Amino acid sequence: MSSKHIETQAIRTQMERSQFLEHSNPLYLTSSYVFEDAEDMRASFADEKQRNIYSRYSNPNTSEFVEKICLMEGAERGYAFASGMSAVFSTFAAILNAGDHIVSCRSIFGSTQTLLNNILPKWNISNNYFKVDELDKIENLIQPNTKVIYAESPTNPAVDILDLQRLGDIAKKHNLIFIIDNCFATPYLQQPIKFGADLVIHSATKLIDGQGRVLGGITVGSSELIQKIYLFSRNTGPSLSPFNAWILSKSLETLPVRVDRHCENALKIATFLESHHNVNFVKYPFLKSHPQYELAKKQMKLGGNVVAFEIKGGIEAGRKFLNTIQLLSLSANLGDTRSIVTHPASTTHAKIPEDVRLQTGITGGLIRVSVGLEHPEDIIKDLKQALEN
Ligand SMILES: Cc1ncc(COP(=O)(O)O)c(C=O)c1O
Repeated sequence: MSSKHIETQAIRTQMERSQFLEHSNPLYLTSSYVFEDAEDMRASFADEKQRNIYSRYSNPNTSEFVEKICLMEGAERGYAFASGMSAVFSTFAAILNAGDHIVSCRSIFGSTQTLLNNILPKWNISNNYFKVDELDKIENLIQPNTKVIYAESPTNPAVDILDLQRLGDIAKKHNLIFIIDNCFATPYLQQPIKFGADLVIHSATKLIDGQGRVLGGITVGSSELIQKIYLFSRNTGPSLSPFNAWILSKSLETLPVRVDRHCENALKIATFLESHHNVNFVKYPFLKSHPQYELAKKQMKLGGNVVAFEIKGGIEAGRKFLNTIQLLSLSANLGDTRSIVTHPASTTHAKIPEDVRLQTGITGGLIRVSVGLEHPEDIIKDLKQALEN
């Protein structure tokens, strides 16, 4: 692994310069590549040569993006996808067989839940869930056909923290593949491989892009597992486009400075919300009141950019809050320069039965704020007027 700091890796990991000796990396908009002769073509297709053949397999821009994330996460190899969900789906599809079983945390992204509940069962891949505070029950859920332990930390949208080392130890003891969706933390704040993760997934659409422009995803981990994911993906076609890879690789150059400021703003917003009389509770990993504050400090560099809080008055108060917000955006994305508020109980999680919703900490009055890079005083001013009007 490189001995350079993560900030330097994000900037100085660079594809080979072309004959023009450009400083900033060019965009390679090409779907395919040419061969010297018949022997070159034969050897390339026989995987005897490491080279670009077709952009569904690899492209200089995607390779650069993948290399950066691998260095930042401490992974051997990776593959970049068109979205976070194509990364999640292709990862499961590549490493699991019909009849396999997944043990997953219940607090996972909505589409990932749909994948586990409705799509993977089509191929007889089943699952059991554990709650964020039930890590002691995981071993009881493991079956002879269990292959994977899956989790996110911090979780979406309730911002709970899971003990990655403990999950890693359980996975190792039972010879399971431990997969973490590290989207909320980014490789700058948390590197799950250090705690035993075999594969790390990102929706690059969030903080990695950071400006709400493109979709992207990536899975990194051991060469052995990524080879399976690569072979699955090069034949099924979920690859990241060169243009989006170029954007995302450029975005990584500023990830550490952006995320530092996102986290600084988020802590200020969380502290303000905690002091407000119309707020029942605030969840932010680096607030002392967070139930897993010590754990968050142990496994994360800073607390991330997502703050969850419960407004007094339940679902109706939550809906009214959204209608009163002026500066912040009502949008489904997160990790943008623009701060975003969502009300999960009346939107993203409205179709989930109330008892299941409550099990993942999504109460009627829960509001999720993706704290952006506007001046924190302006963000606070808007939240304050919406809480008081
Ligand atoms: C934790 C998490 N994982 C995966 C995804 C899916 O990513 P994408 O929207 O890029 O497909 C999201 C999207 O919000 C997410 O929050």
